[in-house]
Amino acid sequence: MNTGTCIKTALEMERLRVAAEALERVFADLATVIKPGITTKDIENVAELALSRHGLDGILVGYRGYPSLVCTSVNNVAAHGLPGQYVLSEGDVVTVDIGADRGGWKADAAWTYAAGRLKAENRRLLRAAWRCTIAGARAAQPGARLGDIGAAIGREARLLGCAVVREFTGHGIGRALHEEPIILHESAAGTGPEIVPGMVFNVEPVVTLGSGAVTQLDDGWSYITSDGSVSAQYEVTVAVRESSGAILTLGRLGDDLANTGPPYG
Ligand code: MF3
Ligand code: CO
Repeated sequence: MNTGTCIKTALEMERLRVAAEALERVFADLATVIKPGITTKDIENVAELALSRHGLDGILVGYRGYPSLVCTSVNNVAAHGLPGQYVLSEGDVVTVDIGADRGGWKADAAWTYAAGRLKAENRRLLRAAWRCTIAGARAAQPGARLGDIGAAIGREARLLGCAVVREFTGHGIGRALHEEPIILHESAAGTGPEIVPGMVFNVEPVVTLGSGAVTQLDDGWSYITSDGSVSAQYEVTVAVRESSGAILTLGRLGDDLANTGPPYG
């Protein structure tokens, strides 16, 4: 790994934080509109307005040929679902994933929302997915190894009766959406490169109630769970500083909510 390309200065981290906080406000806005009766295309339209309101440019359209501004992954869709005419119904679980740019710095986040009231097992899933993300972020301490992150996520998932989708990885973020290092969401503790101050990367485990195996659909983008199980995902940006690693957004909220549940439910 060429660590030189992935180490950020304090000023660069600050720029990334500003971008990430603006994108977090987009996700807070989405929470107020996601309910039964709206389409996934409506979610994209609201995201478009919210991005511009919060000073961000959406960057997913055209990214590696991706056709939409956001990914909307409903229920058994594990990732990269395409917004369209699907109407959310009571009890649906929808993950929205958005990439954005602010002044040349990228933000990338995903959030799972409940449309109306969820079945108990899906409520359990959202909470488990959130706890997996927090566990991964907490493992991102200077001096630890990158493999410790996936080890912590995998452990938390098993503890909570869920599985992590191994195919999807986290990534460094900076001027580019995807930079080094690659973050495995299921890995062995003590393996991989050392985590060093200046690293900024996204932790984004997709967690399912089933086996964790996925299959890609003919649209060339959507991945569904092979066993039809529902999935959830929270993607956060973690900055590693001299003394600790921390989620760039949410402030202390991220820590406080680790034992309760995800905000913007
Ligand atoms: N957060 C996702 C990722 O890091 C964004 C996927 S965008 C897509 O891969 F365009 F590739 F779908
Ligand atoms: Co990402």
